Amino acid sequence: MLTGKKVNLRALELSDLDNNMMWINDREVTRWLVSFTWPTSRKTEEQWLTNRLTSPSATDRVLAIETKDGTYLGNIGLHGIDYISGVAELGIVIGRKEQWGKGYGSDAIRTLLDFAFRDLRLRKIFLRVLGNNIRAQKCYSKIGFKEVGRLKAHQLKDGNFEDLIYMEIFAEEFLALNGLTGDAACDKRESGI
Ligand SMILES: CC(C)(COP(=O)(O)OP(=O)(O)OC[C@H]1O[C@@H](n2cnc3c(N)ncnc32)[C@H](O)[C@@H]1OP(=O)(O)O)[C@@H](O)C(=O)NCCC(=O)NCCS
Repeated sequence: MLTGKKVNLRALELSDLDNNMMWINDREVTRWLVSFTWPTSRKTEEQWLTNRLTSPSATDRVLAIETKDGTYLGNIGLHGIDYISGVAELGIVIGRKEQWGKGYGSDAIRTLLDFAFRDLRLRKIFLRVLGNNIRAQKCYSKIGFKEVGRLKAHQLKDGNFEDLIYMEIFAEEFLALNGLTGDAACDKRESGI
């Protein structure tokens, strides 16, 4: 388990299926996600969860976000982890809408970035976010992610073509912002950036 200030990140369990089914089929949640258009069946979701539990991938990992009193809030993950380049894509969803804007998302991301940079020794984390998802952008910005690219009117959501924004943060930036140390801090300079 990874321990944050407000949340813990733990492995997914089969008992998480009901909550995931609810969140993945809630259009008020999925309208903010870059993917997910079609409703998802219980069978499909169960297979997704079972696969993650029985044959965990080295390059694609999802953890459950829990409050300190054990309330399951949502999921956070690293996708397409490239251990050679030291890069991965961050994805996050807090499925409990009433818990948005309370600092759980930023704490979950900080906790995962700490692990990604200081334990996995990744060099950079990037993410994609829709142009109209201001809450998520604010959350990412306060952690230190910077916008590095924008595809204009790229993705159709709820009848509107939204910009697709790319944001990234390097290990040394994150470590400096959080007063942390780690050998990962020299990687950006070594890469000549
Ligand atoms: C995006 C998400 C993970 C962020 O987690 P969170 O716990 O809500 O975020 P935080 O509370 O840490 O930070 C959100 C910031 O946005 C602000 N905010 C909250 N609601 C807002 C709104 N409706 N509009 C604009 N800003 C808003 C908060 O005030 C906070 O900023 P502050 O700390 O400077 O006050 C979460 O809201 C979520 O899962 N949303 C639905 C799915 C989603 O968008 N996933 C990301 C896809 S890229």
